Amino acid sequence: MSITEQILQNKNFTKENIISLLQLGKTEAKLLFAESLKTKRESIGLDVHLRGLIEYSNICEKNCLYCGLRKSTEKKNTYTLSDNQIDFCIQEAIRLQYGSVALQCGEQSGKEFTEKITQIIKKIKQVSENKIGITLSCGEQSKETYREWFNAGAHRYLLRIETSNEDLYYKIHPKNSTHSFYNRVKCLEDLKDLGYQVGTGVMVGLPFQSTEDLADDILFFKQKDVAMIGLGPFIPHQDTPLWQFRENIPDKQERMFLTLKMIAILRLVMPEINMVSATANQTLDPLGREKAIVAGANIIMPNLTPTSKREDYAIYPDKACVKDSPDDCANCLEIRMRGIEHNIVYNEWGDSLAFIKKHTAFKS
Ligand code: 5AD
Ligand code: SF4
Ligand code: FES
Repeated sequence: MSITEQILQNKNFTKENIISLLQLGKTEAKLLFAESLKTKRESIGLDVHLRGLIEYSNICEKNCLYCGLRKSTEKKNTYTLSDNQIDFCIQEAIRLQYGSVALQCGEQSGKEFTEKITQIIKKIKQVSENKIGITLSCGEQSKETYREWFNAGAHRYLLRIETSNEDLYYKIHPKNSTHSFYNRVKCLEDLKDLGYQVGTGVMVGLPFQSTEDLADDILFFKQKDVAMIGLGPFIPHQDTPLWQFRENIPDKQERMFLTLKMIAILRLVMPEINMVSATANQTLDPLGREKAIVAGANIIMPNLTPTSKREDYAIYPDKACVKDSPDDCANCLEIRMRGIEHNIVYNEWGDSLAFIKKHTAFKS
């Protein structure tokens, strides 16, 4: 039996073994992918749940060195969706039978912003008669704000740690008090404490990132016992400081391959979590999102943002679907998922089984 077969059979996911899985070449990795798909089938099945994506605003107060929405990068247009546009997104989610939405925006602070998000959450709940689940992704906030949003009806929160290596964190973020690794970890703890289903994740293929870092990321997720993961490849953006290191990262194919291996290993290490197939996968590979699902992911985020605004939410360049409408994405995904023999589930929240089980265990 090969070493890979031994690791997979014994489910012996030590740091050393995770590193060796991350280093697998194309042929041996097939074993990993086969095992991951099998585990997915047995633990959560081949259903795919949707989070209709609402990109609420591209305004951001932060300056992450990789992101096109950063404060110091001049944007062609800044926008915040109007009430009418939000209503449009909610109506589209209902019409397209999406069981959940994900409300995302650049990180902003201040009462006006936090209260607006509260209002939107309440509106989604009210208009959909509580049928639509809500994932928020609005960055680092105070515990009070997180509580307010939870009480308004949000029940999942995605806050990527970006990298679990503190040194690397400060290579991809400016070193100042608004970009604190410590605070980000604290936010994840606050969210969990409040009862959210908490998700985190990293970018794969960052400059200065080692295979050991990626293995540590997996162990970090496990240790934090998160319910959801959203990870995806790093894509250099020409208007950001990290662009200068674009030659010092794995090439497109390698970044995609590494991302798929991360997903597959995570499905083995944490079989019942929800894992997103990120849109960024499709920027690197036309079939990237399907490949991520086959590798172990089970969530897709079809875009609901009005088409006229999509281009302005340019976190990274060449984002998929910027010229498409909500209907286009809905039809497209149905065909794509059927093509890989997965089944899109409509009108369900699609909570993480890992979370549901723990939650019910708590109550009884
Ligand atoms: N490439 C890939 N992902 C990125 N993100 C930000 N910038 C990039 C980029 N250049 C991701 C980060 C962040 C989320 C909003 O988008 O992980 O958490
Ligand atoms: Fe703002 Fe998030 Fe982009 Fe950082 S990653 S600049 S917080 S939108
Ligand atoms: Fe948007 Fe394919 S998912 S067009």
